[in-house]
Amino acid sequence: MKAVHWRLAGYVRRYIFPHVVLLTVAMVVLSTVHGLIPFVIKRFINSLTQLKDVGGLRIVAFEILGLFLVRAAANFAKDYLSAYVGQKIVLDLRADLNNSLQRQSLSFFNRTPTGSIMSRVLNDVTVASNGITNGAFSIVADGGSLIAVLFAAIWLDWKLSLIAMIVFPCAVVPVTGFSKRMRKMAKQAQQQLSGLSVILQETFQGNRVVKAFGMEDYERRRFNRELKRLFRIYMRVAAIKAVTGPMIEAMGAFAVVAVIWWGIASITAGTRTPGEFGAFFAAMFLVYEPFKRLARTNNTIQQSLGAAERVFDMMDTPPDVTEDPEPVDLVPGPHTIRFEDVSFRYGADWVLRHVNLEIPAGKVVALVGMSGGGKSTLADLIPRFYDVVEGRITIDGIDLRKLRLASLRGEIGIVTQHTFLFNDTVRANISYGSMERSEEEIIAAARAANAHEFISRLPKGYDTVVGELGVMLSGGERQRIAIARALLKNAPVLILDEATSSLDSESERAVQDALDRLMANRTTLVIAHRLSTVRSADNIVVISHGRVVEQGTHDELLAIGREYRKLHDLQFLPVSEPGNGRQIAG
Ligand SMILES: Nc1ncnc2c1ncn2[C@@H]1O[C@H](COP(=O)(O)OP(=O)(O)O)[C@@H](O)[C@H]1O
Ligand SMILES: [Mg+2]
Repeated sequence: MKAVHWRLAGYVRRYIFPHVVLLTVAMVVLSTVHGLIPFVIKRFINSLTQLKDVGGLRIVAFEILGLFLVRAAANFAKDYLSAYVGQKIVLDLRADLNNSLQRQSLSFFNRTPTGSIMSRVLNDVTVASNGITNGAFSIVADGGSLIAVLFAAIWLDWKLSLIAMIVFPCAVVPVTGFSKRMRKMAKQAQQQLSGLSVILQETFQGNRVVKAFGMEDYERRRFNRELKRLFRIYMRVAAIKAVTGPMIEAMGAFAVVAVIWWGIASITAGTRTPGEFGAFFAAMFLVYEPFKRLARTNNTIQQSLGAAERVFDMMDTPPDVTEDPEPVDLVPGPHTIRFEDVSFRYGADWVLRHVNLEIPAGKVVALVGMSGGGKSTLADLIPRFYDVVEGRITIDGIDLRKLRLASLRGEIGIVTQHTFLFNDTVRANISYGSMERSEEEIIAAARAANAHEFISRLPKGYDTVVGELGVMLSGGERQRIAIARALLKNAPVLILDEATSSLDSESERAVQDALDRLMANRTTLVIAHRLSTVRSADNIVVISHGRVVEQGTHDELLAIGREYRKLHDLQFLPVSEPGNGRQIAG
């Protein structure tokens, strides 16, 4: 892998013309101004001590004015351009990171907490960019000023410069020793911050659970503990940062004393004018600021590299599900899907074992079985949310992995029991993925999903914003919006994974009518807990512990009298109270 700093530098390259070039010009101008200041001071003191040269003093005044005006303009250009490039880098890094995140498969999001992803996109990226604006650019700006002023100092008085230059560097050596530690700690701090984001995200999103179990205190303590840990890391970072300045100052003081000693001696001896000495003294102080900042720059850069490493790590995580380099486009139309000896596992344990299954074009296949059997997993393999571990899945005879992902997913409509709504209007949520559809089509889909009525009753109808994760709606209402969304997409393959599980019996019947209409002439995989909803399927497949244990029509399976019969009896035969069996099925 390319070294982090080169890669980060690559983000600057796009802005070389004209921004970085202009920025460099501004920095060179600034450095030149700083280099000129000691000379103006020399003329000023010399004119002042002679006092006869009032005209000369006036000219010096104008020179000072001119220098400061140029300095102001150059400073503006420097700050503005450096912010521009810095923000552009933040923008590009975030866009690239998001690009890579959007390509990640579901398993990535299953194992990476949302808070930690957000922390990288928001915090780490900023810290990384900081290293360029406050780090690399500062090396040029402060380094330039330093060289210019040093040059002036040597020009003015090389003997005094020599004294100063022997003392100053002694301060730098110990400072560089901190940098490794700094980088490690900066990385720790960013990690800790990411941990905090994770806790925050969980406790707010899961706030209902936190409240229901009275865990506010526990969450508060957990958060405080992490806060304290972050505080300690930050303080260690601060200690290193704080020690570098004073260390240089102390060393600088020695240099100042040495120069004053020597300087006074030479003035009294008459070998040096007060102007020359004053100018040199000014140069020493001008050197000090950029020197101190330069010494600190290293810390900033180390911090930034630590953060950049985290950003690039996440950016480089290879997606588990990738598109074939020469993908085939799926021809629209009814499709036949076939599972050929498919096995799958998320981690160590097999979740699906040697599954063979056909969903013929235009037919309805139902999956039933105990919860945890692997039905949802099986359904998730069709849109390639995950890839099979063994065997293969074909659609019209083509291996799913050969297909262009967009063309595959474009042919599939999905409704699951976990409906996700965006914090947007009802209309936007229904037309998600089908943005070009007309108002009439949206309303028709909502009507078919038995949702139009309750949507019309919302305060702003289709323009009502549903709130984060759709909290303003009941489970059944959310599910009906999700069904409308799938109806609108009108895809030839339909996956219904407990799509009506949150509906009461009455609205389920109404939605079931819509779904029945929708299923006509479509290749449908329906997973249902309530067997009443799958009775009419062309083929019912019983899944148990990741295996297909039996399949056939409702009547055939009842006649065999094994697994399906058991499930059926559980739901429809009175168990505790006669005639009340449905309650058990829930
Ligand atoms: N994202 C996941 N990571 C790890 N294990 C999972 C994941 N999703 C489901 N499982 C496991 O896979 C098994 C099958 O789950 P699932 O397909 O949801 O079953 P069903 O839909 O039949 O109830 C279960 O044991 C479950 O714990
Ligand atoms: Mg399931």
